[in-house]
Amino acid sequence: MAAFEIIDHEYDAVVVGAGGAGLRATFGMVQAGLRTACVTKVFPTRSHTVAAQGGIGAALGNMAEDSWQWHMYDTVKGSDWLGDQDAIEYMCREAIPAVYELEHQGVPFSRTKDGKIYQRPFGGHMRNFGEAPVQRACAAADRTGHAILHTLYSQSLRYKAEFFVEYVAIDLIIEDGECRGVVAWCLEDGKIHRFKAHNTVLATGGYGRAYFSCTSAHTCTGDGNGMVTRAGLALQDMEFVQFHPTGIYGSGCLITEGARGEGGYLTNSQGERFMERYAPNAKDLASRDVVSRAMTIEIREGRGVGPGKDHIHLHLEHLGADVLHAQLPGITETAKIFSGVDATKDPIPVLPTVHYNMGGIPTNYRAEVLAPTKDDPDRVFPGLMAVGECGCVSVHGANRLGTNSLLDIVVFGRAAAIRATELVKPGTKHRPLRKDADEMALSRLERLRTANGSRLTSEIRMDLQKAMQRDAAVFRTEESLQEGCKAVTAIAGQMKDIKLVDRSLVYNTDLAEALELENLMACALTTIHGAEARKESRGAHAREDFPKRDDANWMKHTLAKVDENNKVTLDYRPVHTYTLTDEVSYIEPQERVY
Ligand code: FUM
Repeated sequence: MAAFEIIDHEYDAVVVGAGGAGLRATFGMVQAGLRTACVTKVFPTRSHTVAAQGGIGAALGNMAEDSWQWHMYDTVKGSDWLGDQDAIEYMCREAIPAVYELEHQGVPFSRTKDGKIYQRPFGGHMRNFGEAPVQRACAAADRTGHAILHTLYSQSLRYKAEFFVEYVAIDLIIEDGECRGVVAWCLEDGKIHRFKAHNTVLATGGYGRAYFSCTSAHTCTGDGNGMVTRAGLALQDMEFVQFHPTGIYGSGCLITEGARGEGGYLTNSQGERFMERYAPNAKDLASRDVVSRAMTIEIREGRGVGPGKDHIHLHLEHLGADVLHAQLPGITETAKIFSGVDATKDPIPVLPTVHYNMGGIPTNYRAEVLAPTKDDPDRVFPGLMAVGECGCVSVHGANRLGTNSLLDIVVFGRAAAIRATELVKPGTKHRPLRKDADEMALSRLERLRTANGSRLTSEIRMDLQKAMQRDAAVFRTEESLQEGCKAVTAIAGQMKDIKLVDRSLVYNTDLAEALELENLMACALTTIHGAEARKESRGAHAREDFPKRDDANWMKHTLAKVDENNKVTLDYRPVHTYTLTDEVSYIEPQERVY
């Protein structure tokens, strides 16, 4: 093994990832007196939160009457009753103070004429328990994530959080059934850093890059999920992958749902506003899984637009240039650059595109990672937390509502800081680590650095992305999923034959991408196997051979582990069918219509 130069650090807490969730957790802990390091593979303001567009959900009631109980109802219904209702209650109730906190921290929200935070309609957000769309998405034009990320980074600087930027986390340090920190590789000088911490928070984002076409940044490679599987822990509900209805045809770039919130609509090749047939009440503002399926059906039945009849039109031109420039400037520019369309004049060509992972690392509403057993499905794994898209609280269940992801990152980033402050006394002494504490991380790094097989990282990654796109799509069947299980397992096996060209440790992007690809493999394997096993349709998991939701057999969370031979083992744990307080009652399962 190479003689790595190793630097040791001792912190009260370490956060891996500097998107919105990681930053909120980081400065919350620093503010409470915990010495906290934030380790991130990209500069904080380049994290993928920057790409979130349309808004953050909170029942402020600035435009018309609203209530957090209605928000909770919509989120439970959107989740297709796979969400944990205690966590959903917590998120929707905390949404209101969370948005005011952001406002006070400096987020430049758009304003109503009387100076209140502007709110727009968004898919699946309704008034009075599903009656009609409500304006609940608090927006900073169509750059809400950008505004929030920059504000949270400023707050982190205000509290003097310590950042380790362009450090790639390799693996967790696990000893005696608890997490003791994380091992990371500094790209700039090639040194290895061991961060000892009483509390490690994973905030590493989603794994959209397991697919060929996605709205996610190239950095969204499921790094925390990969680390958790290598630590022998399970991932939860990985089969639930959200397709956003309006990715730009070809490039996959996001066109915010806020565009339909502002009055945009979809048409097929006959010029028909087909959503009226699929969701007579909410129409184009039905939840994302419903709209994505409707678009896919239109295309499959020959009513797609374009020479290949393979996409759909999104119309904004009737809104007028003034509205587009004031409320949707970002997507107007994106449409021009990535589809050549002037959205003030012509419809934008769009297609459902992978956007969000509802599944991830199981946690409770305090952000503590769970290592469920048969006797205790809510057992906490000490020393480890997960927040944001890498976590599965589970507030999104089988399908996330738009705007609930920006909300999730601030509410649960804050919850992690609150819980860490209860668990860790600032300055608590560290026990020494075992001699081989970094063995798993270093042997992994060395195995890939010296890999001399025949296939490039980019080739294996492309095979994986194409297989996932083909076999774990909007609609799934036993045949496609069995095919997918075989294909993805075979592709994962090719990691043994990977070839790296660069053997250095300094800015070796070849090595960084190979590490990321291993993480993507764990995510893809658990996604496809979980999907094959789940014999029902629920939220984003649409089985043509099992078209109905089956609460009797499948209202349960999937737990998936992967071993070193890429074998996936599945288990299940109950959904929380209770609320956190007596102020709301459990929302009984119903048929989900919009
Ligand atoms: O459509 C959007 O602006 C995306 C928002 C979200 O995923 O929450």
